[in-house]
Amino acid sequence: MRVVPAAPRRIHDFVPIRKLHFFLSNVLFFAYNQGFVCRCQAKRQLVEGSMLSLAWQIRDYLNRKGLIISEGIHMARDKITIVGAGRVGATAAHIAATKHLGDIVMLDIVEGLAEGKALDIAEAGPIELYDSAVSGTCDWTKTEDSNIVIITSGLPRKPGMSRDDLLAKNVRIVKDVSQKIARYSPNSIVIVVCNPLDAMVYTAAKVTDFARNKVMGMAGALDSARFSYFLASELGVSVEDIKCVLMGGHGDDMVPLPRFTSVSGIPVTELLDEGKIAELIERTRKGGIEIVNLLGYSAYYAPAAGAVKMAEAILRDKKTVVSCCAYCDSEYDAGGHFVGVPVVLGKNGVEKIVELDLNESEKAQFEKSLAHVKQLALKVDKLL
Ligand code: 2OP
Repeated sequence: MRVVPAAPRRIHDFVPIRKLHFFLSNVLFFAYNQGFVCRCQAKRQLVEGSMLSLAWQIRDYLNRKGLIISEGIHMARDKITIVGAGRVGATAAHIAATKHLGDIVMLDIVEGLAEGKALDIAEAGPIELYDSAVSGTCDWTKTEDSNIVIITSGLPRKPGMSRDDLLAKNVRIVKDVSQKIARYSPNSIVIVVCNPLDAMVYTAAKVTDFARNKVMGMAGALDSARFSYFLASELGVSVEDIKCVLMGGHGDDMVPLPRFTSVSGIPVTELLDEGKIAELIERTRKGGIEIVNLLGYSAYYAPAAGAVKMAEAILRDKKTVVSCCAYCDSEYDAGGHFVGVPVVLGKNGVEKIVELDLNESEKAQFEKSLAHVKQLALKVDKLL
């Protein structure tokens, strides 16, 4: 008997193209109704109407959501250590779990704190449908070989305090934590969240001695989110439509850049007058203390969301453009300092500093802020 080899079979050997298109459209509508797919994405896909792009984008979207892994091959999960199980640390752990970013280890020096919060977050998994392993510990060996370490430990501000008032105490904490990170996760990427932010990033970079693209600070994502929120509320538009850039140190002299801020592509300067923009910039600069004065302690939902956004950009190699505290040498003539600038974040950490052509006034504001960052770095040198 002659055996005829089977022809290679492709998906449309089984399902007629039109049916497949219909099926994928329904999957998309289902996902859309479930709130899985953002509105603009759904609209764009439907308008394009291309079966292939539809299928690809659904696969890619689910993949990014951590619901499927490329081509059905399950890869090892990333490991994220969050140092500090206080409000920022625990909130970051929860957000990272809901985004299926990887397995999460929370570490704190207070016995039982990280363990208790991790257990609580893990127990929300069956309700929120995430199955990341979330654990808490005081033991650094459990953090071994993390891909990302987020440092949230350190004292937070209280009413009447500036971020700089925390310098001496937090340098000691971040120094100790950074030594442990270098020992247990020498290949990790470090995201610093504690204050004074730019000085703490400098401390972590100096102590770990990691490559400069692998140590960064979360402040720009938070400050841009605050500016975006204030603009969206003023204009009565969705926060999704605001794209803004913010530079400088994470302090009262930060530099929001209205010239590089748009509402779905429309420069914000076309939509609001100078006085109103200046008012919202001032509120952004004071955004941290506004929360401290209301709560009696520091903000944590938005800072945690900012840190997880950065971790996600790195772990999923998204090439996200976001403002963050990054090492700049010739860039912006910073002369080898960590300061807030727009960057591209991907699997190698800070993959690129985006250099904007600043005008004289923007340059002057940035230089003033940078001078403050440099002063704090000198103080860190004395404390280390
Ligand atoms: C803030 O601005 C925690 O510094 C942080 O709220």
